[in-house]
This record gives sequence, structure tokens and C-alpha cells, in this order.
Amino acid sequence: MSEKPKPQRYASWTAGKLPLPELREMKKRGQTIVMVTAYDAPGGRLADAAGVDMILVGDSSGMVVHGRESTVGVSLDEIVFMTQWVTRGAKRPVVVADMPFGSYEVSDEQAVANAVRLVKDGGADAVKLERGGTSVSRARAIADAGVAVMGHVGLTPQTATVLGGFKAQGRTAERARELVDEARALEAAGCFAVVLEAVPAQVARAITKALNVPTIGIGAGPDTDGQVLVWHDMLGYYEGNAPRFVKRYADLGAVVTEALGRYAEEVRDGTFPEAQHTYAMPEEEAQAFDDVTPSTPRR
Ligand code: KIV
Repeated sequence: MSEKPKPQRYASWTAGKLPLPELREMKKRGQTIVMVTAYDAPGGRLADAAGVDMILVGDSSGMVVHGRESTVGVSLDEIVFMTQWVTRGAKRPVVVADMPFGSYEVSDEQAVANAVRLVKDGGADAVKLERGGTSVSRARAIADAGVAVMGHVGLTPQTATVLGGFKAQGRTAERARELVDEARALEAAGCFAVVLEAVPAQVARAITKALNVPTIGIGAGPDTDGQVLVWHDMLGYYEGNAPRFVKRYADLGAVVTEALGRYAEEVRDGTFPEAQHTYAMPEEEAQAFDDVTPSTPRR
């Protein structure tokens, strides 16, 4: 008698979760990794339904959801809450919580404590931090504490002021070499993947070749191991100027404005609500109710 195949076992506690080591296998197989940001339960659910592999609960929320000018003001609590919401909606994708500015710069201990909070309280599968430099030591401490950690080099929005604004990075040979070194250092520190943001395609290709762990590009050309885009940018749900690397796959802003406009019109002209949107009452109850209402004076 042939044995029934055993169901696949996953390293993660969530049944059906894409196991983290699988990302490295995908790189080896040349299978592109798909990542998108999400900030709430419907976003997590829809990304999961679309077959996305990884979700980033990004601090881009500070700009695209909460209307700030930059990501700098985003708090750890905000990311914890959004991660809770996203993980209620997303089951298979690996959910990565962004460590906001100020939550890991002070010391390795601060970084570990906050990374652990994102995993324990937020339900994140992994965390992400920005830059090389001191972030290499922070990434090592987080990985040593048993939390999966992702790096992020190139344009690092949390320190855009130091970089001179939201600009592409690695456009000189010297800066490009620095980015390769930062990405290598992050891999050596234990990062399971590295985001490359707004760097020339040649630089992203070189980093992707140099690393054994996957690179996830955003504005880094086609030769990274995966791609990530910001939900509101790609779905046309953000008023600000989207960077040149964004492709708009939908125009939800226009869809929502049109729908709200029709709603406003129908409320004003009385065509909404209709009978199908209204609760009925048994006839005798309605009559008994009518009997008592005349005593209430109407103004
Ligand atoms: O916060 C974010 O959404 C990000 C992506 C741009 C990679 O860090």
C-alpha cells in the first residue's frame, strides 16, 4: 500500500507560510521574488490573494498613508499596529516590518529590543533596517537574537537629508563601490535579503551577483532577485509625485473619487438609500408604532 504524502512542514508557526529559506532557493533557481508594501488587513489579504511572496509594512506609510513629508516621524507603535493588521490578512507571504528611524540607531540593545517587539507584538516574520555603517552591527545583533533581518542600501529615505534629498545613489564609481561593500557587510552580518533602492541597474546587477542572499530592487533595474513597489504609488492612490521607477498598475484614486462623487449626488438627490438598503417592520408592529408617534410633536 502506497503511503499518503505527508503535508509540507513549514519553519514558521503560520500554516502555509512561505518558509524564509525558500527565498534563497528562489534566487538559486532564478525565480523572481515579488514584494509589495501593505499597511492594513485588506492590503495583506489582497496581496496574499494575488500571490505576492513578501509584504513590507514599510515606513513609507508615514508619507503615503499618514500624509507626512518624510518617513522620519514614523513611530515604532505605528509599525507594530500596522503589522498586526497586515498579518491578520496575509497568511502565505513573509511579512517584513520596517524599523522606523530612531528605533535602532542608538545601540545594538535598542535595535534587538525593538526588533523583538515587532515580532512578538506585531506578528512580523522579519524586520528591515536601512543603511550600512552602524546598521551592520545592529543587523548582526538582531540576527544573533534569532530575528530574521533584511538590509536596505542605496537611497535610504530615513537619512535622505544626509544624502541631499530623495536622489538616486551609486552614480559614481566610488559611491557604487561603497554600496557593494555595504550590501556585502549586511549579508555577512546575517541579513536574509537586501533591498536596493534607486541605484543604477549596473550597480544593482553587480551587488546581486556578489551576494548569495536575494536582492530586492526598487528603482534598481531588472536584474535584482526580486522587486518591491509601494502600494499607494503602484495603485494610483497617492497624491504626491511618484518617483520615476514607479509603474502605475491601477488608478484607484480616480475610481474612489468617482464612486464618492456618485454617492454624494445620490444622497443629495434622494436616490440613495433604496428599498433594498432599508429594513422593514412587520405591518402590525408598524401600525402599533404609528399609533404612538403622533403624540411626539414634530418641529
Ligand atoms: O518603507 C518602504 O516602503 C520601503 C520601500 C521603499 C522599500 O522601505
